[in-house]
Amino acid sequence: MNGLMPVGESDYTDTDFQRVQRIAQAQAGIHLPATKRALVYSRVSRRVRELGHASFRTYLDFVQAPGGEGEMEKLVYALTTNVTSFFREKKHFEHLETVVVPRLAANIAAGGRGRVWSAACSTGQEPWSIAMSIMTAFPDAAAHDMRILATDINADVVARAAGGVYPDEETEGIPAARKAQFMESCGDGDYRFAGPIGRLPAFRVLNLNASWPIRGTFSAIFCRNVVIYFDEATRERLWQRLSDRLEPGGFLYVGHSERVSCATQCGLTQVAPTIYEKDD
Ligand SMILES: C[S@@+](CC[C@H](N)C(=O)[O-])C[C@H]1O[C@@H](n2cnc3c(N)ncnc32)[C@H](O)[C@@H]1O
Repeated sequence: MNGLMPVGESDYTDTDFQRVQRIAQAQAGIHLPATKRALVYSRVSRRVRELGHASFRTYLDFVQAPGGEGEMEKLVYALTTNVTSFFREKKHFEHLETVVVPRLAANIAAGGRGRVWSAACSTGQEPWSIAMSIMTAFPDAAAHDMRILATDINADVVARAAGGVYPDEETEGIPAARKAQFMESCGDGDYRFAGPIGRLPAFRVLNLNASWPIRGTFSAIFCRNVVIYFDEATRERLWQRLSDRLEPGGFLYVGHSERVSCATQCGLTQVAPTIYEKDD
């Protein structure tokens, strides 16, 4: 015990769960089915306790009252899952290195720019993996107009991603030669990305279900393991908006359990189970 009063199951009612369901949907497009009732309790009760509330009801009243905006953000963060890893779904990175990076290099050689978007970047393993892939296949990428936009709704994970520092055990998925090339030891068991690779990613807070202050199109978009939390209508809206942000011949990578249900209407062709190409 940490000295705080426990918040028991009796302080968490169906009405409270329904309020959290509405908040998650309105704030982030996150759909919480009834099966998530216990998960919500375990994720949110800690914040209820830490803020000194005896029940979910008074906590939610506080969150929804004027002045509760900061805690509203923390509540939404508590409802999201941030699990990620370096080079998750290796095939995407092989495809990126062999198909997309040569195009990026050709675009740049022709006087254009190179743009890739990691659209739910969590703590940064995805955009830093993209950066390592680009630097490996196109070693002087950082000397050109090549950028990886890395965004997430959660400001806390975006700050961690931007720091680019990871405990040694979290770097397991990085091949040894790449780790040696792109990271340096912090001397305390952590490793950080160092050198020109640091110029590639640009980290921003962005809600995929709100407006996007983003200009231009991308050669590739990674939107992986996030739409599983959205309902079908929200997913379809998002697929269309992402497709609109791809250049012709650009690629959309989705999570291993995700599919673009409206691919044809969205102007996308499935070229592998979780890879879609934007039509010309
Ligand atoms: C499971 S992680 C996926 C990370 C990475 N894309 C991967 O596949 O390893 C899901 C991320 O989606 C983010 N997320 C959830 N709802 C979001 C929204 N409406 N807009 C932007 N990001 C969102 C969460 O904060 C979380 O970091």
